[in-house]
Amino acid sequence: MIYQIYPRSFRDANGDGEGDLQGITAELANIRELDVDALWLSPFYPSPQRDGGYDVSDYRDVDPMFGTLEDFDTLIARADGLGLRIIIDLVPNHCSFEHALFRAALGSEPGSAEREVFIFRNGKGENGELPPNNWQSHFGGPAWTRITETDGTAGQWYLHLFDSSQPDFNWHAPVVHEEFEQTLRFWLDRGVAGFRVDVAHSLVKHPELPDWGGRADGNSSEGFPGHEAPMFGQPELHDIYRRWNAIMREYDGDRVLCAEASISPVERLADWVRPDQMQQAFNFAFLGTKWEPESLRSVIETSLRGFDAVNAPTTWVLSNHDVVRHATRFGYPHGGRPDGIRDGDGIGTGDAQPDTQRGLTLARAAAMLMLALPGGVYLYQGEELGLADHTELPDEVRQDPTFARTDGARLGRDGCRIPLPWAQHGETAGFNDTGASWLPQPTGWGNYARSEQQNDRRSTLSLYRAALDQRRALNLGSGSFAWYDGFGDDVLAFVNREVLVVMNLGSSEVALPGFDVLLDSDNVIPGTPKTSHTLVPEQCIWLRFK
Ligand code: GLC
Repeated sequence: MIYQIYPRSFRDANGDGEGDLQGITAELANIRELDVDALWLSPFYPSPQRDGGYDVSDYRDVDPMFGTLEDFDTLIARADGLGLRIIIDLVPNHCSFEHALFRAALGSEPGSAEREVFIFRNGKGENGELPPNNWQSHFGGPAWTRITETDGTAGQWYLHLFDSSQPDFNWHAPVVHEEFEQTLRFWLDRGVAGFRVDVAHSLVKHPELPDWGGRADGNSSEGFPGHEAPMFGQPELHDIYRRWNAIMREYDGDRVLCAEASISPVERLADWVRPDQMQQAFNFAFLGTKWEPESLRSVIETSLRGFDAVNAPTTWVLSNHDVVRHATRFGYPHGGRPDGIRDGDGIGTGDAQPDTQRGLTLARAAAMLMLALPGGVYLYQGEELGLADHTELPDEVRQDPTFARTDGARLGRDGCRIPLPWAQHGETAGFNDTGASWLPQPTGWGNYARSEQQNDRRSTLSLYRAALDQRRALNLGSGSFAWYDGFGDDVLAFVNREVLVVMNLGSSEVALPGFDVLLDSDNVIPGTPKTSHTLVPEQCIWLRFK
């Protein structure tokens, strides 16, 4: 199991309101209790933080906000002592506009070697006043920004699939390959176990940069039917990952490359996971599925089939730093969101508010279902506490560039990045001792605190712990999968090794066979035989299948 840490919101040791590496180190033992194999750290590199650190201005250092390289070395040494590996985030599609290479490009002539590191083009129109093509940024607005040349004249345009502060690298330039190979070695030398590769499907663009009907995520060919997205899944990518894989193999022990690639269908995503390239890819189809029997059955089947075909473990994930947390999503019918809100958009005071109680009930059941599936699992910090999104953040504190780029039409991802609660009391619920916090926590946040859940055997934290313990003890991660029929259409049931997992997605109670209860999402008392042999709606149970 891999546990994702968003450093800025995890734990703040120096009290400046921003989480830091020392804060992570201080809590390693707590994380270890969850039976974590590896931690994936979202970016902690020097960055102006225009996109939560995914705008990197130096790939080989630590931002003073998070600490120092020595702090990183301490973190990795302590983690190692606890048997925890560290995976870090590699952001190779783009850097920050403050990166030295981009500053050099801006200070050089069009056509120069410095400009070649990025994707600069002359504009269209009589005076180059129109963007070179029609691509749109993921965060809203055009994917191009025009610069002022050193002589003060309006100049070329550069491509940015995300914010204008995140210029895209030109992966047709050898110097970019060299730059990242050095970065890989820099961190491998410091002992990291691998990399989660940001936007892994988009590094290489079609050299002609043709117009494209859809958004920069390549998911819509509207107006250009049948076209392959020109910023998406280009064949040269496989060579890059082959090369990185070879570099990782120069180091002892197991190393992992995990693709963050929004590619569908799953069969196409699985194409990225090959013995000589990536070891894993995030399964966003599972994360995004409607939580109702038909869709779940289909996504579980296609995920297992797709990855089995390439002999790789399927991965499962319910939340991350880019999407509304699942305890909040499940507070809406079918695990959806209020009408019209897309993934990563967030929820605000103007939206219908979720039913948090129902959300938590279903989130616990969903986690149990996920943790019983064979394959790799990714957890996002705080989901083990049952954390929900902050759905009432005031506009003036929002930081996600999506908010500004769409004039507030899309609220962005701040709601799922709220600093974690560690203690029930205190101004920031134990995130630090000073009360400073880069994003405000909602009222009642302390009720989710780890300290409160630690010794409460019915808490969400205890449920996660018990499920993860059993998952390990029974080897479910490397287990098998077979549907178990006979409960009706509204129930999802499957067998993995000796565990029968039953999830009731209907509205009436379901009679259960008389097997021993291993775990149940309603009442986490492992080993207690159930007195009434029924499963209430939105409950998931693990039975020992003999
Ligand atoms: C990935 C990250 C997201 C970031 C984007 C641009 O999708 O997960 O947080 O904004 O890439 O780097």
